[in-house]
Amino acid sequence: MSTIFSGIQPSGTLTIGNYVGAIRQFVELQNSHNCFFCIVDEHAVTVPQERLKLRDNIRSLAAIYLASGIDPNKSTLFIQSEVPAHTQLGWMMQSISYMGELERMTQFKDKSEGKEAVSSALFTYPSLMAADILLYNTDLVPVGDDQKQHLELTRDLAQRFNNRFLDVFTVPEISIPKVGARIMSLQEPTKKMSKSDENAKASIFMLDDPKKIEKKIKSAVTDSEGIVKYDKENKPGVSNLLDIHAVFSGETIEELERKYEGKGYGDFKQGVADAIINVLKPIQDRYYEILDSALLDQILDQGAEKASLVANKTIQKAKKAMGLGRVKKKNQ
Ligand code: TYM
Repeated sequence: MSTIFSGIQPSGTLTIGNYVGAIRQFVELQNSHNCFFCIVDEHAVTVPQERLKLRDNIRSLAAIYLASGIDPNKSTLFIQSEVPAHTQLGWMMQSISYMGELERMTQFKDKSEGKEAVSSALFTYPSLMAADILLYNTDLVPVGDDQKQHLELTRDLAQRFNNRFLDVFTVPEISIPKVGARIMSLQEPTKKMSKSDENAKASIFMLDDPKKIEKKIKSAVTDSEGIVKYDKENKPGVSNLLDIHAVFSGETIEELERKYEGKGYGDFKQGVADAIINVLKPIQDRYYEILDSALLDQILDQGAEKASLVANKTIQKAKKAMGLGRVKKKNQ
């Protein structure tokens, strides 16, 4: 059975972009793969975080994974900072990463642009991400479109390590969903929907109540044409809403174009909101049941233990390959 690894940062409440690009794929894939899903809190601290808020976000993300259908009997769910092998291998990956390739990362450029204090960890973030993936002999990494460049670097680092030292790492493939690989902002549909967007109207959060979802969809930017048609270039707002509708209702884009033919954006937007609410409402109900339960802690404890077993084995191999540490002498 092939192995899957993916992670989500606990840097705010998840948006429907995270759900569509990541979690939805995870729930499907866990039935046929050996899966590791991680709450990557060490990635989150590469930008300033309020400590108590971060704690809440970590727990909240764990509850969202479970409420969305991640089954601890099928998948290993754990917190990155509870498995020290991540930062250990992260350091080794930094040692073989080049400044030039890290400087080319568009996510680093976006996140550091115009900022005065940029942490060195934000710069080396992709090396840690490579470590996350490579620790588990991962074959496949399901992510949204925005992580493609990081995944390409991960593949390069794995190959570089294997060539320079010993053949330790599996070179992973990337899996990007066919529809919804990049859900866009509702207010600026040429920009990615993001959990850290300052404009709350731009994103639908997984814990938004139905009224809020309706309100945000109704105020989503469209155009003045009044025709529900998929055309990313000329109608980015409507096309984004079509993607969202398709993913949440299971209908194809063509079916939806036909369904809303001759109808205005009012009916269409109501349909989009209803489709989202139908999926999110049961997840939200389960979320509030799980959030404060001791079961959540048990699942995370077991997850960290299971992940450590695999990760520590890889660390030993990687250290040996690089010549770190020592080989003990036997008594003569
Ligand atoms: P993060 O926390 O920003 O996002 C988590 C996942 O959600 C996807 N995603 C989206 N998909 C579609 N449309 C969107 N608007 C959208 N926004 C986010 C992301 O592509 C991602 O799959 N660097 C990663 C976290 C990470 C990781 C890893 C992922 C750390 N180590 C190892 C995979 C494997 C990140 O910041 O994701």
